[in-house]
Amino acid sequence: MTIIIYINDYDRDQNNSGHRQKEKLVNTTNTRIALVTGASSGIGEATAERLAKAGYKVYGTSRRGAQAGRRPFEMLALDVTSDESVEAAVSEVMRHDGRIDLLVNNAGFGVAPAGAEESSMDQARSIFETNFFGLIRMTRAVVPHMRRQGNGRIINIGSVLGFLPMPYGALYAATKHAVGGYSESLDHELRTRGIRVSVIEPAYTKTPFDANFMEPDAKLDEYREARAGVTKRVNEVMTTAESPGVVAETVLKAASAAHPKARYAAGKLANRLRLLRRFAPAGLVDAGIRKDLRLDAVAASQPPRTARAF
Ligand SMILES: NC(=O)c1ccc[n+]([C@@H]2O[C@H](COP(=O)([O-])OP(=O)(O)OC[C@H]3O[C@@H](n4cnc5c(N)ncnc54)[C@H](OP(=O)(O)O)[C@@H]3O)[C@@H](O)[C@H]2O)c1
Repeated sequence: MTIIIYINDYDRDQNNSGHRQKEKLVNTTNTRIALVTGASSGIGEATAERLAKAGYKVYGTSRRGAQAGRRPFEMLALDVTSDESVEAAVSEVMRHDGRIDLLVNNAGFGVAPAGAEESSMDQARSIFETNFFGLIRMTRAVVPHMRRQGNGRIINIGSVLGFLPMPYGALYAATKHAVGGYSESLDHELRTRGIRVSVIEPAYTKTPFDANFMEPDAKLDEYREARAGVTKRVNEVMTTAESPGVVAETVLKAASAAHPKARYAAGKLANRLRLLRRFAPAGLVDAGIRKDLRLDAVAASQPPRTARAF
């Protein structure tokens, strides 16, 4: 149920608007309100559906706004790279429900397998703008409301590439490592204010993620064979990838935990990789990555370079 009340000073510390009276629509039931970015497909869509089924009132988002088709959650227009768009979407939820209990920062994309130097600086900035700064932008817009409420949960969709390297996926892996560092630090800051932050770390998940890859914009012939090899391997693994429902279930588990963990691996492969990273010798993990992506086979097939002695 939603009723209209009039309050003083709402948002005063946000915009210094003083003692004006503002109209605010407030949710007076115990329904928890969730905001899930990037809910038009894949992990975000599965998460929004799972949360709705668990009893949350869910707002999903897409840059395309509300789309045709029946969903068990509402859709808002949102581009996480735009301050105005983020402010508008968060204000819309606050106007309707007066609170946000759960923020799931999921919106993100990857660059197709390529050498790190095959993406321009603009492209490097662009992937950080969505995968990392977008998440910060959302967090900065929502945390003030959670602080006022005295509680809230933030769940960030990271990746196993937030604790493992990804040769020929360096920029993407860098964004996910950044997500991990930011999330764990933020969790320490906000814990005494009733807000907890967790990262969910899936491995390969069957979604349109690879169909939405951004093509590298500064390709070099040098990397053609390596690019093809890693692309082939990614395609192979994607065919046996787990469903986004597995990640959605992990999000719900983290959101419902009385004492949430900082990081949750999502799915069988992610759990195996987490254990390997934690307990296997670093040299073994290093060799495993090279073997899995056949990196040395590519190097061996290339013509020898003339070595120069200095
Ligand atoms: N699939 C995997 O193997 C995998 C593994 C580990 C982690 N992840 C992570 O899971 C998250 C979701 O990916 P997915 O696999 O579900 O891929 P996806 O199906 O391509 O979904 C990506 C979502 O992000 C949204 N999005 C992209 N750029 C945006 C922007 N600037 N502003 C707002 N929304 C934006 C898209 O919405 P619109 O295009 O409608 O705006 C879409 O809903 C990403 O953070 C990804 O890094 C995926």
